[in-house]
Amino acid sequence: MNPPGAWRYPRVLAHRGGGTLAPENTMAGLVEGMRRGFRAIEYDVMLARDGVPVVMHDPFLGRTVAGSGNVFDYDALELAAMDAGGWFARRYDGEPVPLLVEFAQFCKAHGVWQNMEIKPAPGYEIETGGAVARIAAGMFGDEIAAGQWAAVPLLSSFSELALESAREVAPLVPRALLMSELPPDWERRAHAVDAVAIHVNHRHLTPELAQAVRAAGFGLFCYTVDEPARARELLRWGVEAFCTDRIDLIGPDFS
Ligand code: G3P
Ligand code: MG
Repeated sequence: MNPPGAWRYPRVLAHRGGGTLAPENTMAGLVEGMRRGFRAIEYDVMLARDGVPVVMHDPFLGRTVAGSGNVFDYDALELAAMDAGGWFARRYDGEPVPLLVEFAQFCKAHGVWQNMEIKPAPGYEIETGGAVARIAAGMFGDEIAAGQWAAVPLLSSFSELALESAREVAPLVPRALLMSELPPDWERRAHAVDAVAIHVNHRHLTPELAQAVRAAGFGLFCYTVDEPARARELLRWGVEAFCTDRIDLIGPDFS
């Protein structure tokens, strides 16, 4: 029997907006996820050179954005003029790198719940955590004041420094600690950043660890689950939510 979970958000999130059915971390991906009924997504955020957060996974150009160099070699509006879609398919040519503010505002306007993964380029942990938290707190100030926590984004990160910085700037915006594999001191680390949830790679989870995380009072989320049978197994173990790249195989109402 699992204790009541701390997870107050949807069960299935579209990873990077639209999973692998559209270019990751773009408006086109988000719209593809929405078209398939998703109203909850995970996406990645890092800082451009001018300190403006953009929706982007890699700290360098070349894989999903045509060009070369690092994300922090460019200002946000320069990145927003680059092509983040053509690598995926020709019909997405010219799809821009989204600015966090615009992307998050679109989600909010359409009732799409957001797990913002703070993905700092190395050395930019504090600035990135603070900038993302500031935007989330500003955009969701009314919901926070009203205690409408299910509407407020969840900030997650592999970087404890970034999460500490987010807490410093916006203590009321909830945080989750991301870990590929739970280390022996996972509980201490999660408490150290006042995390409400632990996000873990499902490949490294065991039923015992799942029970321990739930028993400790944390929400439990897994990334990135692409097989329905595995998703069912994880839910049986007590996992409360997960993100998926296969939004064609695992829908928003999956159970
Ligand atoms: O937030 C879960 C997951 O997205 C973490 O890994 O590399 O896909 O951002 P990554
Ligand atoms: Mg991510």
